[in-house]
Amino acid sequence: MQFFIDTANIEEIKKYARMGIIQGVTTNPALIAKDCTGCADLKGVIKEICSIVNGPISAEVISTDTKGMVKEARMLSKLHKNIVVKIPAVPDGFAAADVLSREGIKTNVTILYTANQALVAAKVGATYVSPFIGRLDATSTDGIGLIDEIVRIYKNYGYKTKIIAASMRNPIYVKKAALSGADIATIPPDVLNQMMRSELTELGLKGFLDEWAKMPEKVRTCFTKGR
Ligand code: G3P
Repeated sequence: MQFFIDTANIEEIKKYARMGIIQGVTTNPALIAKDCTGCADLKGVIKEICSIVNGPISAEVISTDTKGMVKEARMLSKLHKNIVVKIPAVPDGFAAADVLSREGIKTNVTILYTANQALVAAKVGATYVSPFIGRLDATSTDGIGLIDEIVRIYKNYGYKTKIIAASMRNPIYVKKAALSGADIATIPPDVLNQMMRSELTELGLKGFLDEWAKMPEKVRTCFTKGR
């Protein structure tokens, strides 16, 4: 499973890119509005993200009609070879994704809530689909069940469209998406941080170090001397 980071925050992207655990980045207009307030050059922000992570970088259109989406997508795709254009899963969006996939522009059909939307996205040649799992759960609908359905449908017909499990609210979502066979999870920085932690690990480590501290100092320094 690949991990993308779901943020437009440059410092967070740099931090997790240095750790080597992210293979791509997803942004959306809300994340850009949150993390880039005061940025005069939004195209520059997207280019900077592309310079930090050498993998798929999703940037979303803001038009709501096919013509406008296609125009914005062409502009975004020219910013960097790794740009993937996020297109909302609405009728105009599917029409735009169809045009763009014929032009070789990579698309990520987003804000997706049903298996049928995922099926249509695959038919128009979308590179990725982003089912919003956490938001779906918040409406008392089984978000992970949606991933199961899309995985099965794509397998039935050999569709190449990749599934990005999105709207990951906590580490349990990521684990369940991995068990369901999502190709990618796009994960906010705080959830990535939680995924690396266990209270038991911290307690265990403390226990080891407390025992170690009981050794005579000259023995203890043998590991750290000359480091
Ligand atoms: O990538 C999708 C994501 O940005 C939406 O997540 O947490 O706003 O539901 P959230």
